[in-house]
Amino acid sequence: MKSNKLLKTLLSVLLFFTTSSPLLAESGGEGANLETVLKVMIAITAFTIAFVLWLVLVYAEKNDAKGELFLSPLKDALQWFTKATPISKESEILMDHDYDGIRELDNKIPPWFNFLFYGTILFSIIYMINYHVIGSGNIQEEEYLAEMEAAKAEQQLLVRSGALLDEESITRLSDALSLSSGKDIYIKHCAACHANDGGGLVGPNFTDEYWIHGGGIKNVFKIIKYGVPQKGMISWQTQLSPTEMQEVGSYILTLQGTTPAVSKPAEGELWTASDEEAAEAAANPALTDKGVGPITEVSLGEIDPQLVKKGSDLFVAKCSACHKMDKRFVGPPLRGITERRTPEWIMNMILDPDKMVKENKIARDLLMEYISPMANQSLTQDEARAILEYFRSETTQE
Ligand code: HEC
Ligand code: HEC
Repeated sequence: MKSNKLLKTLLSVLLFFTTSSPLLAESGGEGANLETVLKVMIAITAFTIAFVLWLVLVYAEKNDAKGELFLSPLKDALQWFTKATPISKESEILMDHDYDGIRELDNKIPPWFNFLFYGTILFSIIYMINYHVIGSGNIQEEEYLAEMEAAKAEQQLLVRSGALLDEESITRLSDALSLSSGKDIYIKHCAACHANDGGGLVGPNFTDEYWIHGGGIKNVFKIIKYGVPQKGMISWQTQLSPTEMQEVGSYILTLQGTTPAVSKPAEGELWTASDEEAAEAAANPALTDKGVGPITEVSLGEIDPQLVKKGSDLFVAKCSACHKMDKRFVGPPLRGITERRTPEWIMNMILDPDKMVKENKIARDLLMEYISPMANQSLTQDEARAILEYFRSETTQE
């Protein structure tokens, strides 16, 4: 009678959970659905296990035959796993010493403990064969290299997709494919206001040398990207990818000097080649910064092999303690330095690093980065010039 009632309760509880779980799941929103279902299922399982155990205990306590049925396999399994001596037989394994009333049992080592121990040995053998003999597993360094490789691939993908292009890094494209795709974009999106041939309609003329916001790819890219909304030029960055903006910008620049059917009068300022150079220099101040010190003007000719040799020897003797060509050491790697700095700056740095670090921003930033100062090697101007020649000869990696 009583067990019947229990069974009924159990069934109704289970029924409640199974019917209510889709309801609960639905209220959790799209993303939470699976998680909620999982939680409810775990809750039901835990509840059922707890309930069954409780039933077993109740029956066992009553010493009911059915309870024994549940409990005895469990007890046997536990016994097999622990090999524990029952309390009634403890006297048989009691050892005969006595420490202030504390006595010791000579229990067997429980099999579960031994399994764990043998398990670690087995694991170590598999591990060793996998990682060190077959070598198929990724040990730390390989894993690091693999990650670097993956990151590089990802970066290249980003570069190719143009996601890293912005008004600072943009360059003008000149290959036929990019320009023709730039032209397509132009005809589709821009011609309505700037005319098919760039002669200008609502928007300004691209065939003359005058620009309202400055010429050159950087300015043009910036205007295409951000627009001048108050003047009717919209921002294109939501409709065109950076690569597309680069292509159409490069295409526009090719229109200069062509003769359009109808030419809108020039607007803005004249943009000349020297403006272009000045803009380049502003974008990368290191290419014009001559530094401070005795050298104000260096004239460079063909690379002189004899001077290179002298410079190379001097470099080994005076500089190689702190500088490597391709690797950061005490000081920066120096390969390609002549492409990053002006010849004057390099010679001033060699001749008077202390003054440079005090008065030149680039040198000061380098000191901040490398912490240790560059030593003055007391070279003559001729020697510094020889090292410069050596640097000029060492621009590309061998
Ligand atoms: C709805 C008309 C309209 C469309 C479409 C349009 N432009 Fe313009 N654009 C203008 C106007 C108007 C200006 C002048 C803004 C000003 O006076 O500051 C302008 C200016 C520019 C400038 C700066 C010119 C300068 O002299 O500095 C560039 C570059 C430019 N547009 C490129 C584009 C490109 C590329 C597209 C297509 C992707 C495009 N425009 C589409 C109206 C338009
Ligand atoms: C005591 C170590 C030391 C020695 C010796 C040394 N340098 Fe340096 N060098 C540095 C450090 C450090 C920097 C970074 C700037 C700073 O901290 O002042 C640097 C910077 C430079 C730079 C600028 C690098 C850049 O990226 O712009 C050049 C060029 C240079 N050194 C050339 C030389 C030459 C040539 C010699 C030999 C005549 C030499 N250095 C000797 C430590 C040294």
